[in-house]
Amino acid sequence: MAHENNAKAQFEHVFEAFRGFQTVQVIHLGLQLGLFSTLREANPGLTPNDLAAQLRLHTPYVEKWCEVAYAYKLLDRDNAGCYQLPPKLDTVLLDTDHPRYLGGFANGFFTYGADDFRRYPHAFVEGDVYPFQEHGEGFSAWVSSLTHPMQRLVVGKVLPELMGAELEHGLDVLDVGCGAGELLFKLAGAYPNCRLTGIDGDGHGIKIAQGNAKERGLNHITFMHTNGEQFDQPSAFDLALMFEVFHEIPVSARADVMAATYRALRPGGALVIVDETWPDDPSQLRDPAYSFSVMVQFSELIWGNVVATENEQTHLLTEAGFTHIHRGDLGGTFTTIYARKPD
Ligand SMILES: C[S@@+](CC[C@H](N)C(=O)[O-])C[C@H]1O[C@@H](n2cnc3c(N)ncnc32)[C@H](O)[C@@H]1O
Repeated sequence: MAHENNAKAQFEHVFEAFRGFQTVQVIHLGLQLGLFSTLREANPGLTPNDLAAQLRLHTPYVEKWCEVAYAYKLLDRDNAGCYQLPPKLDTVLLDTDHPRYLGGFANGFFTYGADDFRRYPHAFVEGDVYPFQEHGEGFSAWVSSLTHPMQRLVVGKVLPELMGAELEHGLDVLDVGCGAGELLFKLAGAYPNCRLTGIDGDGHGIKIAQGNAKERGLNHITFMHTNGEQFDQPSAFDLALMFEVFHEIPVSARADVMAATYRALRPGGALVIVDETWPDDPSQLRDPAYSFSVMVQFSELIWGNVVATENEQTHLLTEAGFTHIHRGDLGGTFTTIYARKPD
């Protein structure tokens, strides 16, 4: 264990982390080249020769990729030398709709993440921020591909449990930080009587959202390129959503965004937040409940993001005027917060 005071234990701890890093490299390559998807279709598996032939790849490299992937428990191997995906690994690596899908993270870590990380040393000297909104359209689309499986849980489970009947009946819903709009598209499918508006400070996300709305014939959804703190439609909405947005709002703008969101709600209106939470006590940072928060915080540091603690979240909500604050969790990873504007 890392906390044991000897070099062997520390070596093993760090070495295991390098193996983790290389596991992500093997995953990234396997996804990029179609190795995993080809193996998923093959029953009872493929030899490296056949795998390479199907994908027109260099056989000796594919052979080593298979062996290394086997070593890292990303592939199983039978006595005939055929490789196949271990049970359920296809869900995690290939099923882009599943809440446990991680394939998208592997790709993003080696593209956007690597580019961001090159900026860290300079940023640590100068305090530079490279905001989400400056990363470009491909990046906004990639983020949307990561958030959309969890949105299915929000629309299929969280919101129905909180206010299913009202949603069925039809509410005015505001999605603050809607990104590429997928949460609203899902809501439109599940609750056709709702009137939906999405706002975001990211022009790339809004452009994708508007394009997709047109393509899917969902022209009744309004998308506006505006920051939450500048949004000014008093008492126009029954429900406001912030899905994976709270920690992305610059700390200096958070009170203003909460105030504008509060203003936008009618009396009795609800706010539902889904986000990561940082522990109030740093000694809890090794608790697995915070492992996703830690990962998000470090990879998004240069975007200017700060994952808020429970105290900070509650303080911002109460300062804005919200009451009836209830906290829950989603998948043991995300915090859900329900709050209301008093009647
Ligand atoms: C991780 S993305 C999530 C987007 C979307 N909710 C989803 O589920 O895909 C966070 C979004 O919050 C937006 N955001 C951050 N600060 C904002 C602000 N002050 N006003 C409006 N949007 C903001 C970002 O531009 C980005 O699109």
